[in-house]
Amino acid sequence: MKNTLKKILPDRMLNFLRKFNQPQNSINLEDYYLLEKSKITYGEDLLYTLHNSDFTKDPHFIESYNLGKDTDNGTLLKDYDIRWRIHVLCWAASHAMHLEGDFVDCGVHTGICARAVVNYVDFNNSNKKYFLLDTFNGLDARYSTAWELRRNTLMGYDKEDSDTLYNQVKETFKDFNVSIIRGTVPDTLSQVTSNQISYLSIDMNCVAPEVAALEFFWDKMVSGGMIVLDDYGYANSTNDQKKAHDEFASSKNIRILTLPTCQGLIIKP
Ligand SMILES: C[S@@+](CC[C@H](N)C(=O)[O-])C[C@H]1O[C@@H](n2cnc3c(N)ncnc32)[C@H](O)[C@@H]1O
Repeated sequence: MKNTLKKILPDRMLNFLRKFNQPQNSINLEDYYLLEKSKITYGEDLLYTLHNSDFTKDPHFIESYNLGKDTDNGTLLKDYDIRWRIHVLCWAASHAMHLEGDFVDCGVHTGICARAVVNYVDFNNSNKKYFLLDTFNGLDARYSTAWELRRNTLMGYDKEDSDTLYNQVKETFKDFNVSIIRGTVPDTLSQVTSNQISYLSIDMNCVAPEVAALEFFWDKMVSGGMIVLDDYGYANSTNDQKKAHDEFASSKNIRILTLPTCQGLIIKP
């Protein structure tokens, strides 16, 4: 019983405890935090807070977020929202709009993040190009560990039809100045023809390609350029991503900011 309870998220916990807090179950309430739902300002994507989250009410953010969600007709994020992550990306991208340099996403999938970003920053009103890199076919076994491949299967990326996904992304971004690069990072990195990058979002769920992308783009990142690492802060023992990102960062004598969304943020010095 206790093990089951530990997996329950706070907003469902109260009802659960009422139902199961019987003497025979011997639940220790000291083991739990109970958050008063009416006071929670944000509660999704494993992030619960009472702090200000006014961005969720900003009509321009709402529009951008929904455009991102709609990239797969709302299927992927049907019962799960990631607004604070998208808020971080939109903020980083809007900062990068003040800098010279192009945008890059490594790990595009349907383009939830990139679609939100191009709307939020009014990308078409700039002379920037957005490079979108993905296999559109999940992880590449040549550059992935057994654990990463297993997670890929769990998330269903290996069951998607690659051509359908690729064509869907082409359609989503047809009105924007994008270059869609289909294939495996690191093999495709040289197809990013820009030598100045101001915004780099990395979300490939595998260590070797992510580090290769960081190494490849580091010298091309302009000063003040933003790098957002989507999976930096997962709190599981198999999180090799954080370890590898931290090793990269220390080789450049910088540190990564851990965000409560589980993203990592680097600002190029
Ligand atoms: C979590 S999804 C990215 C989601 C995306 N950021 C969005 O906005 O919806 C991870 C993506 O990384 C891609 N990927 C994984 N390994 C890759 C590699 N070595 N090269 C290119 N793409 C890769 C997968 O095909 C998948 O679409």
